[in-house]
Amino acid sequence: MADISSHPIPRHVAIIMDGNGRWAAARGLPRVAGHREGAKAVRRAIEAAISSGVHYLTLFAFSSENWARPAEEVADLTFLMKHYLRSELKELHEQGVRLLVIGERERFGPVLAAELEAAETKTAENDRLVLVMALSYGGRADIVNAARKAMEAGIPPEELTEQKFARLLSTDGIPDPDLLIRTSGERRISNFLLWQLAYAELLFSPVLWPDFGAADFAASLEDYATRERRFGARPV
Ligand code: FPP
Repeated sequence: MADISSHPIPRHVAIIMDGNGRWAAARGLPRVAGHREGAKAVRRAIEAAISSGVHYLTLFAFSSENWARPAEEVADLTFLMKHYLRSELKELHEQGVRLLVIGERERFGPVLAAELEAAETKTAENDRLVLVMALSYGGRADIVNAARKAMEAGIPPEELTEQKFARLLSTDGIPDPDLLIRTSGERRISNFLLWQLAYAELLFSPVLWPDFGAADFAASLEDYATRERRFGARPV
């Protein structure tokens, strides 16, 4: 049987960045302070991914459920994302980062949606790290959209394969995550990449996202390297 164990460095790491609110509460600060500190951790994670040879990094920055948060917090998060994009794009581009956005970007308004699209175009040729930002993203919506596309295209049911279906998801062209990290001790997938995480290794870190740094990223990769991945097959 072929050796199907994976390379010890994950090609694609996906992160559910959780714990910004608790980080702020523990310091008697408003939630926005936690999100601001979380944005700094985003920069550290990108640097850690680049320096460790990870090729795809997907960050869950805003879920489709996050719209249910108080309007003020939604506005703070939208502002932070806009600010982050404006202040970091030049450096990301120089570092060879390609930006891709999945999710309903248009819900953030035409200005941010257009800026995100311009950033995707500007960085399209970069290939050091593909940074996938999940914004207003929901895994179930992704699957339903793909099903709609299959029906609209009139694909006969018996011809619809997993491979064809995957090409209709928002992550078309992006390999499935090898490793999912969720910070803050919560142990849920929370409607993230439901289809794409089918065989990912799951790592739940107790560290709150604003505290997550290069050492935590490195420790996660070390843990991953010890995992035996079988993709449903049994060893012979
Ligand atoms: C979860 O913490 C985090 C979020 C809902 C948003 C993630 C946002 C950032 C990391 C900052 C901005 C992003 C970019 C790309 C610049 P929580 O608020 O659910 O924390 P809690 O569970 O402790 O309340």
